[in-house]
Amino acid sequence: MLLTLIATYDNSRHLVNSMGEKILTVPKFEIEMRNITLGCTVIMGRETFEKQPSLLNHRNYIVLSTNKEYKVSDPKVKVMYSPEEIIQYLEDTDVKQAYVVGGAKTFSSFTKYATRFIICHLHTNNLQGHEKFPLLKKKDFHIEASASKQYYDTNEKKSYTWHKETFFRRDESKRIDMRRSKVPLVLSLHNQTK
Ligand SMILES: NC(=O)c1ccc[n+]([C@@H]2O[C@H](COP(=O)([O-])OP(=O)(O)OC[C@H]3O[C@@H](n4cnc5c(N)ncnc54)[C@H](OP(=O)(O)O)[C@@H]3O)[C@@H](O)[C@H]2O)c1
Repeated sequence: MLLTLIATYDNSRHLVNSMGEKILTVPKFEIEMRNITLGCTVIMGRETFEKQPSLLNHRNYIVLSTNKEYKVSDPKVKVMYSPEEIIQYLEDTDVKQAYVVGGAKTFSSFTKYATRFIICHLHTNNLQGHEKFPLLKKKDFHIEASASKQYYDTNEKKSYTWHKETFFRRDESKRIDMRRSKVPLVLSLHNQTK
């Protein structure tokens, strides 16, 4: 199962503006993310869920909450009570691709389980954000960055530069296995030359 976190943050990894809202919605990035989540499972925290004006079709949703009384009537939506319960459910039901779309607390809860992180990185420090995306240690990841693009926000009458950044977690266990598999090979070659 491939678990991906999708977030938008600024140069300081701020996710939320001073009004307590998502820092910015960049339409081009959102459309691309809508396309990749199609037919997949989308996970979000209870607070982000309650801010959704509507849910997209053709996706299953899981909402994370500590509140066992919390109910959602929409059949597309399951409520679960811990990241571990969600990971177990995704594995038991053989889900291939799942996406965590926020908010801040939920990103922190799932960072250790995620293999891939797709970020809309805003080239700004001026947004007075609060909650931050967890710091990813660059040495643990293979990172791909797109070319920078411009987005003009008509509400704010302001232009933003942004790029898409994808972090793939380096698979330590595979690298160790590769190193292990080389040992017998080297030994056997060495033995052959004797
Ligand atoms: N920049 C971005 O990419 C982005 C994306 C999405 C949202 N946002 C913004 O982020 C803000 C919301 O973020 P937030 O951190 O306040 O809320 P959130 O992560 O959306 O939801 C938090 C709630 O999720 C539940 N939860 C989180 N971790 C849990 C865990 N380990 N176990 C059980 N339940 C858990 C709890 O629900 P209960 O309280 O019910 O127990 C918690 O109060 C909004 O302003 C939203 O617009 C930003």
